[in-house]
Amino acid sequence: MPADLTRKEPAELNIFEAEEVLAALAVEIAHHDERYHGQDDPEISDAEYDALRRRFDAIAERFPSIARTLAPSTAVGAAPATGFAKVTHSRPMLSLSNAFDAEEVAEFEARIRRFLSLAAEEPVELVAEPKIDGLSASLRYVNGRFVQGATRGDGTVGEDITRNLRTIDDIPNRLEGAPETLEIRGEVYMRKDDFRALNQAQESAGGKAFANPRNAAAGSLRQLDSTITARRKLRFFAYSWGEVTERPADTQAGFLDRLRGWGFQTNPLTRLCGSVDELLAQYTAIGEQRATLPYDIDGVVYKVNRLDWQDRLGMVSRAPRWAIAHKFPAEQAETILRAIDIQVGRTGALTPVARLEPVTVGGVVVSNATLHNEDEVRRKGVRVGDTVVIQRAGDVIPQVVRVIEEKRPATSVPFEFPSVCPCELKTAVTRLEGEAVRRCGGGLACPFQAVERLKHFVSRDAFDIEGLGEKQIQAFWQDGLVTQPGDIFRLKRHEAALKQREGWGEKSVDNLLAAIEERRTIGLDRMIYALGIRQVGQATARLLAANYGTLDAWRAAMLEAGKTPSGDDASAEKPNDALADLLNIDQIGMSVANDLIAFFAEEQTLDIVADLEEELDIQPFAVPVAGDSPVAGKTVVFTGTLATMGRSEAKARAESLGAKVAGSVSKKTDYVIVGADAGSKAAKAEALGVAILSEEEWTAMVDGT
Ligand code: IVH
Repeated sequence: MPADLTRKEPAELNIFEAEEVLAALAVEIAHHDERYHGQDDPEISDAEYDALRRRFDAIAERFPSIARTLAPSTAVGAAPATGFAKVTHSRPMLSLSNAFDAEEVAEFEARIRRFLSLAAEEPVELVAEPKIDGLSASLRYVNGRFVQGATRGDGTVGEDITRNLRTIDDIPNRLEGAPETLEIRGEVYMRKDDFRALNQAQESAGGKAFANPRNAAAGSLRQLDSTITARRKLRFFAYSWGEVTERPADTQAGFLDRLRGWGFQTNPLTRLCGSVDELLAQYTAIGEQRATLPYDIDGVVYKVNRLDWQDRLGMVSRAPRWAIAHKFPAEQAETILRAIDIQVGRTGALTPVARLEPVTVGGVVVSNATLHNEDEVRRKGVRVGDTVVIQRAGDVIPQVVRVIEEKRPATSVPFEFPSVCPCELKTAVTRLEGEAVRRCGGGLACPFQAVERLKHFVSRDAFDIEGLGEKQIQAFWQDGLVTQPGDIFRLKRHEAALKQREGWGEKSVDNLLAAIEERRTIGLDRMIYALGIRQVGQATARLLAANYGTLDAWRAAMLEAGKTPSGDDASAEKPNDALADLLNIDQIGMSVANDLIAFFAEEQTLDIVADLEEELDIQPFAVPVAGDSPVAGKTVVFTGTLATMGRSEAKARAESLGAKVAGSVSKKTDYVIVGADAGSKAAKAEALGVAILSEEEWTAMVDGT
């Protein structure tokens, strides 16, 4: 390509030049996608890659007709590296919630106490372990032999990397006296000195250096040729377990002892602590050694020591209630703010995003940071052209911390937050009282919101359609192939056209269509979550599904709840029955109810849902434990102080047995469980003739004793 073409602004290109440039960029982008996703070995920084993408998009915007046929491969995405078989973890590999300060650590401990209903003087022992910055792996031993090792993947399905893990000296091949089946989990990492030596060797051999030890470990572990892995110095710290045929210990500390007995390495900075103060002291002590440790760590993990308590505490979403990662403070850097772009989210919220001069923060190149909302921009006084301090903590989106005013260019002007949506419809944006964000009122007519909702619809916790990610949705939307969720299930009508698309082979289209077919049957809870209603996350979607059972019942109730009460009732002081039922679901308040009503009041909602019903087989919510629990399907209310467990534990237990937990007593309540000092709810139950149980009676009933 002539050099002057690579420099021309999009506006200066004629259609022939544009075609040439776009074609070249598409090839280049596809190449870097493959290096990044397929080989874990990027040749350019994220910032350089973004610049290529931006240039492609800018030209594509001017010449959409050519761009359509040239769009860079959308098929790569984060697809797993080919060549490794998939492994479904017999128990999911969890993630950890984070704490960023002492207060959050104290709250974590307090939550545990409340959940277990512990007396104030009862000590809670916790183990503090460094959080190793590597990659987690699960090692399966059967009769003491190492038979299979897998990456974490998405926590449910990982990749079989047994051959590569066998090359790591820290991973024993045989264990003496281990349970019949035993899965050991821990972190594969590379030491800092080994990382430096590897990079030197790579460079002198004309190869590419890795950005940090974690990337080097990832790249080494995902080699299809395990002789390459064998030459890389990888190590392993063990800290947890998955499936086991017999409990390996009574405490986390005891388990770590057993790990050492079997020949695993455990981290030497691990301590058993008896109080929050001790945890924090250990955090400080580890933090002080961080720079001089031979490997990278990014925080300290605290775990409840007693395993029977861990069992009772269980997990929320994908993280255990019994552990937390106390992260080290964010790393900061200075850079220049080049532009402030406005992004429109799924629910119409306008978010200002800082486009930055790329800068390395803690080993990662950062070129974008969030500015949260209008007030934040004003409070920080950020202007385009400013030198700003940015920070990045873990996997959290980088943030703009503050402006260095002394470095402000004289010509800069304050940022004006737009009063219309940046999409072509230019819908007016509004900011409701008490809300921090401005929202575009365009609903699904707004192309940004429409695309964001589609992205949400196919995301992991919603329809989870493999091979249909952000890039593909964007491309299909632009071409008019998918404009509403139901269209996804009609994509097979375009099979021939899809196979003609740049970057899509016969096989990838077949795979995509098969993945879509697999999701035609879906649970009501996932379906509700997938709709992307404001404030309706996974937990709320489950509650709604459990309470209404079927799509029909739920929709009818939401429409009914939205009917304004007539006459004197219009004050909304007295909600209609449907609304009262909705509000009676524990944890659903007026604000969520309003969002549900607003969603169903939106013009297209009923059409979209009806269209989906045509395409899908929506399964009524399955009560977790099939009918054999005496409380399955029953509505229960807890009131007063319970003696043997906290309110959240009682609720979690009841729900796991298929009961619905309501916040207040009504005719529909089946049981009211009264603890000490129960007040008006017990009285109301009595008045309505609802069965009242003591805590012991309830426990006897659910435990079947
Ligand atoms: S415990 C349920 N302990 O951190 C227990 N994780 O953010 C889950 N990690 O995926 C993990 N050091 O890769 C645990 N001492 C440690 C850890 C540790 C590093 C990683 C692990 C996990 C991630 C969660």
